[in-house]
Amino acid sequence: MKLLTGKTALITGATRGIGRAIALRFAQEGAHIAFTYISNHEKAKLLEDELNAMGICAKGFCSDASVFPEAEKLIQQVITEFKQLDILVNNAGITRDNLILRMTEKDWDDVLSVNLKSVFNLSKATIKYFLKQRNGSIINLSSVVGVNGNAGQVNYASSKAGIIGFSKSLAQEIGSRNIRVNVIAPGFIKTEMTEQISPEAQEKWKAMIPLQRLGEGKEVADAALFLASDLSSYVTGHVLQVDGGMG
Ligand SMILES: NC(=O)c1ccc[n+]([C@@H]2O[C@H](COP(=O)([O-])OP(=O)(O)OC[C@H]3O[C@@H](n4cnc5c(N)ncnc54)[C@H](OP(=O)(O)O)[C@@H]3O)[C@@H](O)[C@H]2O)c1
Repeated sequence: MKLLTGKTALITGATRGIGRAIALRFAQEGAHIAFTYISNHEKAKLLEDELNAMGICAKGFCSDASVFPEAEKLIQQVITEFKQLDILVNNAGITRDNLILRMTEKDWDDVLSVNLKSVFNLSKATIKYFLKQRNGSIINLSSVVGVNGNAGQVNYASSKAGIIGFSKSLAQEIGSRNIRVNVIAPGFIKTEMTEQISPEAQEKWKAMIPLQRLGEGKEVADAALFLASDLSSYVTGHVLQVDGGMG
């Protein structure tokens, strides 16, 4: 028996990087997959086809995670289409890096909306279904930067630290209903997001990582699989750092 047979997972921002790796890993373990993206229709179609070819049901939804009414509409569509929802992975995220003196108000607002408000939006819209079935697992993607801070990323670090406070609080609120809420705080993972960082800065980061290399999306996906499945049935309110030891 596979670890997620009979479960349905919704993953935000799965056309690329970590979200994509999580979608593929969950599908390997038998989960049906609903996923979202913001603009990349072509990559969404490719992922949908790849997932469906694995023998599970998959569908991509173009939905802005930072807009509450879109989140509510999305959850209704997912329930209509899949008839159930068991796992929510809040993965969608962006960066707009700059030193604070050069950071615009829009850079701050955009990052807080897409990275943190989205977690509120999707969690709130999902929880009513989880409460009815008295079961559910929410996994929120923070970052080592949310734990330690990082110069040039006050907006990103604030959003990612906020996710940790949100998740620990929500875990306390809904634990009695058998709904678990956990956080993954990745370190430096090879994706389009980290491609934006200069090679010099990448080398500097690598030197600070005890395992001396960048992580892979699939290594974060394995941690997500643990938190999504019954392997972690007594784990909630936890921050799992997947960072090669740098945290
Ligand atoms: N990569 C790392 O080293 C690292 C480290 C720590 C934490 N993280 C966190 O892990 C998560 C995934 O990172 P990644 O590197 O895989 O990112 P990525 O490669 O940049 O992919 C971001 C994904 O989010 C989607 N997205 C962006 N804005 C959205 C919105 N408003 N609504 C819905 N979807 C949206 C994108 O869709 P489109 O393709 O349509 O644009 C894409 O699928 C993020 O929360 C990030 O902060 C990453």
